Amino acid sequence: MAKIISVANQKGGVGKTTTAINVAAGLAKAGRTSLVIDVDPQCNATSGLGVEPADRHPLVAGRPLAQSVVETVQLGLHVLPGSLSLADADALSASNRQRASQLREQLAHELSGYDFVFIDCPPSLGQLTRAALGASAEVYIPIQCEYFAMEGLSQIIDLARQTKARDNHRLEIGGLVLTMFDPQLELANEVANEVRGYFDDTVFETVIPRDVHISEAPSHGVSVLDYAPRARGAWAYAELVMEVMDRE
Ligand SMILES: Nc1ncnc2c1ncn2[C@@H]1O[C@H](COP(=O)(O)OP(=O)(O)O)[C@@H](O)[C@H]1O
Ligand SMILES: [Mg+2]
Repeated sequence: MAKIISVANQKGGVGKTTTAINVAAGLAKAGRTSLVIDVDPQCNATSGLGVEPADRHPLVAGRPLAQSVVETVQLGLHVLPGSLSLADADALSASNRQRASQLREQLAHELSGYDFVFIDCPPSLGQLTRAALGASAEVYIPIQCEYFAMEGLSQIIDLARQTKARDNHRLEIGGLVLTMFDPQLELANEVANEVRGYFDDTVFETVIPRDVHISEAPSHGVSVLDYAPRARGAWAYAELVMEVMDRE
């Protein structure tokens, strides 16, 4: 049975897509079949894995999901591509409680062959993110190690708590991921310490450094683990993957 994990934070540019892609890729390398579901109309996860966006979003196309799954160049790493269609984003987000449980059942049923499913959320707390949380067992929250990092964190955490209380009782905060860390910046260290001070063990021990290889990889349609396996960023994501497997 697949473990379904949403990667969410209403802030843009904090490393959601990067984390979804690279953790899924690392798990696939460790022999755990992984699927990335792209629900962001920007389709960054789709294109970052070298796949074309779909005309209709697979979650609203009314076909079995398996027909829409695309294999990436990496063995065991698949994508359910996003769609640039705003109409589809609307249809996808026209979710209510019933739809959330339907989606959860649909994913559980049709994607049971995967070990891990990551849902890459858009940068908002809107209906798409709500639907994703409603269908997930866990949420990972990437946090950029910069000045306003803590601001807004309570909103995504509150949304996760609300979702757990109302629609999806098994939802857990699977972990906070510190991203784009620059050890030379005093501020980055302060932010990391502050986040750990508040959230303690919920924060993954692995800190993802700022590394240009991480930002270059998507333009080659592969994870940083394939693009620059010896780069610091690749090591960091590989370590994060070990933690993810430890928390299984
Ligand atoms: N650790 C990192 N080092 C350098 N660049 C990064 C790192 N993580 C993400 N990026 C880059 O920062 C930008 C935003 O990251 P992304 O994962 O797309 O954020 P989000 O999905 O939260 O909007 C992208 O251009 C990405 O390549
Ligand atoms: Mg993104």
